[in-house]
Amino acid sequence: MNYVFLKACRGEAVPYTPVWIMRQAGRYLKQYQKIRKKVDFLTLCKTPELAAEVTIQPIDALGVDAAILFSDILIPVEAMGMKLEFFEKKGPVLNPPIRNEASIKKLAVPNPEEDMNFVLETIKILRRKLNGKVPLIGFSGAPLTMATYMIEGGTSKNFLQTKRMIFQTPDLYASLMDKVTQTVIEYLKSQIKAGAQAVQLFDTWAGVLSPGDYKKFALPYVKRVIDELKSQTSDFRPQTSKIPIIYFVGECAGLLEEIKTCGADVIGIDWRINIDDAIKRLGSNFSVQGNLDPCALFLPKDKIRERVKEVLSRASFARGHIFNLGHGVLPETPVENVVAMVEMVHRLSRK
Ligand code: CP3
Repeated sequence: MNYVFLKACRGEAVPYTPVWIMRQAGRYLKQYQKIRKKVDFLTLCKTPELAAEVTIQPIDALGVDAAILFSDILIPVEAMGMKLEFFEKKGPVLNPPIRNEASIKKLAVPNPEEDMNFVLETIKILRRKLNGKVPLIGFSGAPLTMATYMIEGGTSKNFLQTKRMIFQTPDLYASLMDKVTQTVIEYLKSQIKAGAQAVQLFDTWAGVLSPGDYKKFALPYVKRVIDELKSQTSDFRPQTSKIPIIYFVGECAGLLEEIKTCGADVIGIDWRINIDDAIKRLGSNFSVQGNLDPCALFLPKDKIRERVKEVLSRASFARGHIFNLGHGVLPETPVENVVAMVEMVHRLSRK
């Protein structure tokens, strides 16, 4: 097993800085497009053999140090009872959106083994196929980020409907978040049981809240999830040990003093803040993940190298560093630049 990623999550000594890329399976890869020509995105997520195949594509093509389960953060939302569709260019649509008590009452807390078994099957296939080559990361949306999609009915610019519910009807919002949080807990526990060796919580939209609102309306639910997962173990040899939890927040810079109370092992950092600044503010209890601007991958290779060097150098005093982009890789990204970046991280960080 390549333990480098798991060791960096725990802040243990590593021979080089491990790297993986958010959205590493996806449209910038020809191999992915070939499969997507035959099946739509949701079918791909729900067909374990295919989902496992596209999960492994970037491991072979890029040489990254971890695999991330191919799925979507909205899969559990569909299992809760909402109608989910994906449209080219427009992204996900959940219709009708959640706006009142009656629609929240109708939502279920799904049983992952029954309602999302295809995800667990994908994980089991992946552990067999990866065969120790790299560890497998499971994931879920964090409660707030999932709730924004449910309340807005899709992606949003200003999150007016979400903030309207949070600010004007906090009890209604809390009742929705209770169900979403319970769903996330059950979902991640089942992923770990199926074989996920680390988990990442994606809180893509938490940065749209002020620090005070984040502390009150997002963080307590994240803490609840992390507390429930803390006792979970995985087969990280030589001995069984606790499963690393990664918490990624989009636009985290204004929230780090709150985020540092969340209890995760690793904090994912976007590119809008220097990673050394984030490390200082988080303190020495965390490893960090990030934080190259995804658009840097469109530069010539010597310029990419300068930026990779800068991130590595800024993060050199962290308890542990996992190199990543500050958000998902863009579909237009030249693959050869991604391959070059992974190689640069390994070479420039080797001790
Ligand atoms: O990282 C990986 O490679 C694993 C797979 C993964 C996907 N989505 C595949 C995907 C993961 C971890 C996600 C998480 C996800 N999904 C997030 C959180 C992370 C982030 O990027 O902020 C969010 C907000 C979503 C919701 C979502 N899914 C949106 C807004 C979209 C449309 C935008 C787009 O890029 O088209 C998706 C679709 C989606 N999820 C695709 C992929 C590969 C593209 C679907 C396609 O093939 O057409």
